[in-house]
Amino acid sequence: MISQTLKDMLNEQLTRELTASQQYLGMAAYSGAQNLEGWQAFFERQSEEERGHALKIFHFLVEVGAPVKLSALPEVKSEYASLLEATQAALAYEQKVTREFQAMAQAALEEKDHTTYQFLQWYLEEQIEEESLFGRLVALLESGLNPFLAESLLSKGGEK
Ligand SMILES: [Fe+2]
Ligand SMILES: [Fe+2]
Repeated sequence: MISQTLKDMLNEQLTRELTASQQYLGMAAYSGAQNLEGWQAFFERQSEEERGHALKIFHFLVEVGAPVKLSALPEVKSEYASLLEATQAALAYEQKVTREFQAMAQAALEEKDHTTYQFLQWYLEEQIEEESLFGRLVALLESGLNPFLAESLLSKGGEK
């Protein structure tokens, strides 16, 4: 039996995953406006991935019989000072998401809810990849490499 606390936390996370999907779409829009087609495609793939993360939570909530709450999504940015700023924002958001999943896993442990705890493990693993990916992209752009040239490196970093 999943607790009300965890139901609420998962519903909030569902909203945050959909927000992340919107944020990556905003970064795709920014990239497109800069004629960076490769980055646009990369961020669109990230956006789809985040929607997938949201759906995984959605399905879990439905399966355990918890009400799904679809809250309004905040407006997101589609303009950045630079691609570096966009990737830094993405890294910061992913780090925040990791802390949120750790808090949820901790709550599940304290409640001895092993079902939810196990469900959350997939996300904790996924967050290692996400943080690593954006950490590398930030480092790449911080190196001063031209974003147009950096596009050729994206297929490796963007598709897991
Ligand atoms: Fe996610
Ligand atoms: Fe993510």
